Amino acid sequence: SGFRYRPEVLDGISEHEIAYLKEYEDWFLLESDDLKKITDHFVKELEKGLTKEGGNIPMNITWVMGFPSGHETGRVLTIDMGGTNLRVCDVCLSSRKRDFEQTQRKFKLPDEVKTGTNLQLWDFIADRLEFFLHEHHQGGQNGGIIPLAFTFSFPVDQKSIKSGVLQRWTKNFNVSGVEGEDIIPQLQAAFQRKNLPVRIVALINDTTGTLIASHYRDPQVKIGSIFSTGCNAAYMEEIKLIPKLKDAGLPENAKVIINTEYGAFDNDRKVLPLTPFDRKIDSESVRPGTQIYEKMVSGLYIGEMLRLILVTLHEQGRLFKGQDISRLRNENALEASFLSVAEMDVSEGLDDMREEFEESLSLSPEVYELRICRYLIGLVATRAARLYACGIAAICKKKNIRRCHVGVDGSVFNKYSGFKGRAAQGLRDIFDWPPDELELIALNTAEDGSGVGAALAAALILEGEQKAKP
Ligand code: GLC
Repeated sequence: SGFRYRPEVLDGISEHEIAYLKEYEDWFLLESDDLKKITDHFVKELEKGLTKEGGNIPMNITWVMGFPSGHETGRVLTIDMGGTNLRVCDVCLSSRKRDFEQTQRKFKLPDEVKTGTNLQLWDFIADRLEFFLHEHHQGGQNGGIIPLAFTFSFPVDQKSIKSGVLQRWTKNFNVSGVEGEDIIPQLQAAFQRKNLPVRIVALINDTTGTLIASHYRDPQVKIGSIFSTGCNAAYMEEIKLIPKLKDAGLPENAKVIINTEYGAFDNDRKVLPLTPFDRKIDSESVRPGTQIYEKMVSGLYIGEMLRLILVTLHEQGRLFKGQDISRLRNENALEASFLSVAEMDVSEGLDDMREEFEESLSLSPEVYELRICRYLIGLVATRAARLYACGIAAICKKKNIRRCHVGVDGSVFNKYSGFKGRAAQGLRDIFDWPPDELELIALNTAEDGSGVGAALAAALILEGEQKAKP
């Protein structure tokens, strides 16, 4: 067969009829050697990011300089501003080792807020926090000020854990008045406008929070990662291996968590095999030329990738002949969950898939068309998972980690069945583990959500402040 990858779903369709799909296979299929080459370049880029000159990957210093002992106590509010939702959480760390209680509430971040002004964004957050406080505390705590940790899932340049200048928006956010500014005074001012009894004590990234929370549960965790709307990872680095901190006067033997922001990997387009669809996604995004790696892998873009492919095939007369594809023409008409539902459909006639096409796109494809779509979805999702493996592998190679656990959070990783297995296979191919050998680097679901990691980071900071008092 001319196909290197021909899943069962294409059985019964003659090769001749779908010969045109081979082009897609060439674009999207990544062999072990491709992954190894990408990973090796990735390692170099991680290193470059730690130098004074810097590179594509920011390698941001988080100022979290240790892991919690497990004995942290106290109460912390946390706010997590991710790509899709805002989560407010009240975390109580108990004196019993590694124990905590939390109350959570999730709010959807409306599109207007993602692309409005800074005042709108911070007031939206303050408003939701006020609502949460009323709901859970009947309005504040005996006049006391509650410490708050803010998880902000975007790249920030931090001079300390209590400040952070937004380097650039990612994930198609575009709020005016924030890039290049310290976000903490802006958010604190919004809290003050509402007289909320809170004080921001820590600003952390979602990957940092995931690393801290997962390590708290399982000390074998060395990397925290998010695979969701965006894609990124954090790990603990030795100060002496960070040239850009050489003059910071920190103890040589100290360590600090690095938020890699590796979604920006290969912004200078040296190794990633970009397809015409990747170029289109980039050029039509809010910030063209940025987050090139993230745009090839993360949940925000894989639906759009499939959509662009389907539109192209329709225009070539290959799919949905004579049908009205106007809904499919809408930008972002397909979400990652569309791909996930399609791949989970095991019925003979692909009934769930058909229903999805009807509901989200008003299309009624024939079975053979559904099968072709399913093949394409497999290609797009498998490429994403295998490229995702390269980033994790690169951190392990850079740190000479032969064996560890990785705490991964995020809706795509946790809900897209088959994703985890494909990413694990990617790691196996990169490291040449024999098929019968256990995975030495295991991707595990991070269980505690966003609140606990942020609360622990805050508790560490508060402990430090307490000790520093005369
Ligand atoms: C984007 C953000 C990064 C975040 C990731 C996952 O890459 O820039 O800060 O960790 O998405 O949410």
